[in-house]
Amino acid sequence: MNFSLTEEHLMIRQAARDFAQNECKPGVIERDTHMSWPAEQVKKMAELGFLGMMVSPKYGGGGMDAISYVIAMEEISKVDSSCSVLMSVNNSLVCWGLEEFGTEEQKQKYLTPLAKGEKIGAFCLSEPEAGSDATSQRTTAVDMGDHYILNGTKNWITNGGCASVYLVIAQTHPEKGHKGINVLIVEKGMPGFVVGKKEDKLGIRSSDTHTLLFNDVKVPKENRIGEDGFGFKFAMKTLSGGRIGIAAQALGIAAGAYELAVDYAQVRKAFGKEIINHQAIAFKLADMATEIEAARLLVYKAALLKDQHKNYDIASAMAKVFASEVAMKTTVEAVQVHGGYGFVKEYHVERLMRDAKITQIYEGTSEVQRIVISRAVLA
Ligand code: CAA
Repeated sequence: MNFSLTEEHLMIRQAARDFAQNECKPGVIERDTHMSWPAEQVKKMAELGFLGMMVSPKYGGGGMDAISYVIAMEEISKVDSSCSVLMSVNNSLVCWGLEEFGTEEQKQKYLTPLAKGEKIGAFCLSEPEAGSDATSQRTTAVDMGDHYILNGTKNWITNGGCASVYLVIAQTHPEKGHKGINVLIVEKGMPGFVVGKKEDKLGIRSSDTHTLLFNDVKVPKENRIGEDGFGFKFAMKTLSGGRIGIAAQALGIAAGAYELAVDYAQVRKAFGKEIINHQAIAFKLADMATEIEAARLLVYKAALLKDQHKNYDIASAMAKVFASEVAMKTTVEAVQVHGGYGFVKEYHVERLMRDAKITQIYEGTSEVQRIVISRAVLA
């Protein structure tokens, strides 16, 4: 077993760290306050190849492994999770699904501009009444021969307003349950497709989250991914990889908060010495460091299994549930280490604490991850 990173991985880490520190950090508090979409940062991520990292160069991607992807996700999430969630959805939920299951025409038309970051993608599964229970899709895609007619509402869609390519999960044959679900590629501008209200969120506030409305949208049949009825399995397989990205995001949030807590504890004095020299603080930092390292090992293991083309469903669920809980716990403790300064925006840790919460919710709640894990271990 080899725990060392390659030269290439180290270079990717440095590039992602430089991008996060130099491009994301300036203005991150203002973007969070005003819910401003990080247009300049997204442009730069595209230039650096962060939006299609694992896509084959044949389709405009970086051809990198999943370890490289989680390394970059961790570094960017240390500073700005609104940027990293856009990156995660584009890479894992949109590009990966299209490359793995799309036709050659779909790859040429949609995957290539998405991998280059010329276009942004969104993954549309959640509905007002179908979040964790993803088989209960109310959105319908009625088969009209050479096209589908799409009707319904999707909620909490990351990149909902800024995307131009949407993978929409919808029910075609309700009598067949999950085997009657399809996934369709919908383009912004198709008549009847409306981007609805933008959400005002607790965290990842500058990411672009919207309700989407589909009113008799005509979608050509060539825009269906996979066979008729493949949509639910498409969503499950895609989310399995997506959870590695979100686990890496949670890891980054935890690691970012820990680094800030260490820096602060080295300079802040109380009772005649730097607070890092008080055992109450030193033990907190020791626990944070240990739990972050454990989370990192789970995240890397899931990514490695993916790179080795082995089954990573359980590993990704374990990485996500553990890393997201570490993110929550670490950020709360990082605020505590900062005392009153931790409660104000200037010191960044309160934002990291708010951002951490979503990692326990999206791409499958912690409860969903435990369903996946318990079914496997109890089988
Ligand atoms: N790969 C392939 N197939 C899978 C699979 C996987 N990982 N997981 C399940 N399946 C298959 C099963 O084998 C089964 O197929 P068969 O009937 O042919 O055997 C079928 O799918 C149904 O599986 P289940 O019976 O396990 O389905 P379930 O209804 O019990 O649900 C669940 C299981 C794990 C709870 C699932 O519904 C789930 O993952 N829910 C959470 C959905 C989610 O993550 N939503 C997040 C929204 S997306 C988002 O957040 C993106 C964003 O914007 C950031």
